[in-house]
Formats: sequence, C-alpha cells, structure tokens
Amino acid sequence: MGIGSTAAELHAGLVEELRKSGRITTPEVADAFAAVPRHLFVPGIPLKEAYRDDAVFTKRAPDGTPLSSVSAPWLVATMLERLDAAPGDRVLEIGSGGYNAALLSRIVGEKGEVTSLDIDPEVIDRAESALRSAGVDEVRLLTGDGTLAVPDGGPYDRTVVTVQATSIALAWLEQLTADGRLVVPLRLRGLGRLLTFVRAGDHWVGDGWDLCGFVRMRGPAALDPMATTPLGEGVRLRWDGGPPPDADALTTALVGERHEVWTGVTVGVTEGTRPVVDLWLATVLDVFGRLHTTGTAPAGVRALPGGSPATWDGTGLAHLTMRPADPGASRFEYGVVRYGGDASTAVEFAHQLRIWDRDHRDGPGPVLRIFPRGGPECAARVCRLLDRPGPAMVLAWP
Ligand SMILES: C[S@@+](CC[C@H](N)C(=O)[O-])C[C@H]1O[C@@H](n2cnc3c(N)ncnc32)[C@H](O)[C@@H]1O
Repeated sequence: MGIGSTAAELHAGLVEELRKSGRITTPEVADAFAAVPRHLFVPGIPLKEAYRDDAVFTKRAPDGTPLSSVSAPWLVATMLERLDAAPGDRVLEIGSGGYNAALLSRIVGEKGEVTSLDIDPEVIDRAESALRSAGVDEVRLLTGDGTLAVPDGGPYDRTVVTVQATSIALAWLEQLTADGRLVVPLRLRGLGRLLTFVRAGDHWVGDGWDLCGFVRMRGPAALDPMATTPLGEGVRLRWDGGPPPDADALTTALVGERHEVWTGVTVGVTEGTRPVVDLWLATVLDVFGRLHTTGTAPAGVRALPGGSPATWDGTGLAHLTMRPADPGASRFEYGVVRYGGDASTAVEFAHQLRIWDRDHRDGPGPVLRIFPRGGPECAARVCRLLDRPGPAMVLAWP
C-alpha cells in the first residue's frame, strides 16, 4: 500500500479532518474517534471509503430507500459533541450500527453503560459482530421499537436518537435523569434539523439546529414520507402535512401573471442565513413547503438551491428568491415571487422577511419547546404549535 493508504493513516487523517472542520471540539470525542477504527464497522468496502467523511448505506428497501447506515463521521461527531456524555454515564442509543455505540462506550468508560436499540434484527446482528471484531464487549444490544425506549431500562443520563423522527416519544423524556439530555434529528415541516433537549421546569427546550438528513423511522411510529406534488414540467412542490395543494391550479398559475416583491433585506454570501430564514418562514407561514425546479421548468420559474420556501392558496404560489445586491455579488437581497392571482400574499411574505430582519436576525434564534403534559404555552412573541402526535411541540422565537 502507498503512503497515506493504510488503515491507521486513513483513520488518523479522518480524525484530523474532523478536528479542522470544527466537528470535533472536545478531547473526549477526539480520543473516542482516535480509538475506534471505523473500517471494522463497514466491512467489505475499500478502506478509503470506510474513512471518507460520508455515510455508508448498509441496507436498502427494494425501491432503493435507505433503511440502515453507518452515519457520516461529521454527523456522528456533531451528535456526540451535542450529547456531552461523561465517564460513568448511562446512555441509550436508538438506531444501531455499532460504530457510534463503540465511540460512546469509549467516552463513558468502564463505569458507564451503553445500550443500543434497533428495530431490525439484521442490524443488531451486524453491529454485534462488528463490535466483537473491534474488541468492544460492553455494549448492550437490543432489538425493539425505539419509540418505546427500553421498558424499565431507564433512567439514562443521555439518549441519542440516530434515526429521523417527526415527533418526540414520551418514553425518551420519561426515562431521562433530572439533568438528562436528548439529542434527536427531527423533520419539522420538512426541514431536517438536529435538536438537543434539556429540561426547563415542566417542559423541555431544544436548540442547536444543525442541518441534517437521516434514515427515516420505521415501525409503528414510521414517518409518512414527505409529499411531492409535480407542477408540470421541471417543477415540484414538497410539503410535509396539511391539505394537498391544487396541482392543476398551481401549474396554470406558474405560466400566468408573475409579481416580484423585494424586501431591502440584504445578506452577505458567507453569512449563512438561509437555514434560519427557512425556519422563520416555516414558523410564520400557515401553508409551507419547498419549491424545486430543474432546467426544464417554464421560463422565469427558478427555485433557490435546495428548494425555495413557498406558500400557496387556491389561485397561486409565492416563494423566496434572492438577487445580487451589489455589482460584485458579495451581498444578496431577499425577495418574493408570486405566480397567479393577486400579489397580496407576496406582500405579506415579504413583510415577514422584514420582521425577521428587524426582530430576530441578531437575536438568539428559535427554540423548540416540548410539553409532555398539559397544554403548551405560547408566551414567546412568535410561535407555532406543530401538528404532530405525542407531546405538544412549539416552535418559538424569543
Ligand atoms: C442511521 S442508522 C443508525 C446509525 C448508527 N447509530 C451508527 O452507529 O452509525 C438508523 C437505524 O435506525 C433504525 N431504526 C429505524 N426505525 C427504528 C425504530 N422505530 N426503532 C429503532 N430503530 C429504528 C434502522 O433500522 C437503522 O439501522
């Protein structure tokens, strides 16, 4: 093998990359990454791929949908940093694979305890043999539905969910200690974000908001896939709950009257405001989804990369857009395009962008409040009760 291509060298290179990118920030997580060889958890693939900062898909449904993976190292590192587990902690991992459990086992040490739970017995078998080959024998592996946690298994100091959820299972909260912490990737109105929850009196408060995608939850609490509505050639609307859009009316609107409203709100190209603006719009717009376009879309219909936040009614659709705000395109201005009907929804949409700019742009950002019992309180200035089963979830902007 050439220079830089042995497992040890590739392993050290990955750890260094994660440190440099700021994904690994603490010595505890760095030590765990340095101690656990990832290639033992993804047998059968070239070493270079095992040490690439990418997810390795280990099981797919017949239609190609990923069912299980060994998560991307950058995401595993981010989750471990957010989890903040310490030696002696009892940790529950929901969604197995072996790698993250081995890292956790190193962090909590001999006095700690790691339980890793997966709905799929094949995943548990694979995790078991990988952990054995890595010489990690302290992890407790269980097969079962993670939304029930481990009946009578708590209390846990830390729970990390490594599969995408759209709601918080009561069992995750009930089984945590008083100063317990829950890390979970959630899909909120179609936006994938990693949230970290801690107790705040009678409820839980989550923040963090790292962008992330994940394998979807299976079993009794399986997620509905995101709905996609094609709007003619090269255009589709993706939405997550709520009444379906009138596809015929919106397809016609896209080739009809077009209005633009510009906000005067400008952002630097490196400011990275899009994720937070997307969350703001998901909070304030009653009807919310994302518009995606390809090169075959009708002339003038062009969504932003990753999809433009959009809202619609029976006669038309409005979406977020941007244009250069200076000749060098170092700043961009947010605006709204409306197709069809009257322009008043675009005016209201643009007004909401100005409110974000005025009241929240420099603020602390949103929190997600979970109320396990009783009615939620909407004491914040702006909030939205998310329509999900289970404990009430309120997206709130202080
Ligand atoms: C991204 S993988 C987990 C990655 C893993 N933590 C690692 O070490 O990289 C997600 C796992 O969640 C599992 N899963 C899906 N739905 C589940 C459920 N309801 N309860 C428990 N596990 C579930 C899948 O079978 C899959 O193996």
